[in-house]
Amino acid sequence: MILDPEKLGVRDTYKFLIGSVVPRPIAWVSTVSSDGIHNLAPFSFYTVASRNPPTLCVSIGPRTDDAAPQKDTLKNIRDTSEFAINVVSMPLANSMHESSLGHAPDADEFAAANLTPAECEVVKAPRVEEAFISTECALDQILTVGSDHLVLGRAVRFHIRDDLYNDGRVNLEALDPLGRLAGNYTKLGGIFELPMK
Ligand SMILES: Cc1cc2nc3c(=O)[nH]c(=O)nc-3n(C[C@H](O)[C@H](O)[C@H](O)COP(=O)(O)O)c2cc1C
Repeated sequence: MILDPEKLGVRDTYKFLIGSVVPRPIAWVSTVSSDGIHNLAPFSFYTVASRNPPTLCVSIGPRTDDAAPQKDTLKNIRDTSEFAINVVSMPLANSMHESSLGHAPDADEFAAANLTPAECEVVKAPRVEEAFISTECALDQILTVGSDHLVLGRAVRFHIRDDLYNDGRVNLEALDPLGRLAGNYTKLGGIFELPMK
């Protein structure tokens, strides 16, 4: 079967994209507004954009309601040029879900999700204290790509729980990251090696 996105339409094309680009990691993005309100939301259109300098990218789509012209995360990043990306481990799945719900722009989503905002070293945005890994990011650029905005952030600090980092490697079993599969989730089902040539 061959599908033409133009014939498929926007909704079914979106469904195909989220069902075929799998599994996706989840960037749990924390920001602070120019009024000092903490914000937190998950984004699964997320990956590494460059290893050197270390740069991460997150794609933020349009709002699905009319409450504001853009998602709070995008507004805060535009206003402050800073954010943090927290890893969602299995024990934090429910809190992540809570933070994805449509809260009013003046709602503190850390409080709503019962999470602790921790200070970052370089950026003013908070990080999630309960997250096992958080990366402080300084905005590099925002690209408009069709209906979405691709936010590129330079990683300026990594925070990792001590017991998860050994000999330059992250303990992935202990990290226990959540992945996104279409509209559902997946967790690590086993790690294996392929032989090197
Ligand atoms: C697991 C998960 C992944 C998501 N990925 C994205 C994404 O990649 N891009 C996007 O625009 N919204 C994504 N969303 C929806 C946003 O999290 C949601 O619109 C949120 O309310 C935005 O919050 P904000 O207005 O505080 O920025 C995702 C939601 C969930 C639960």
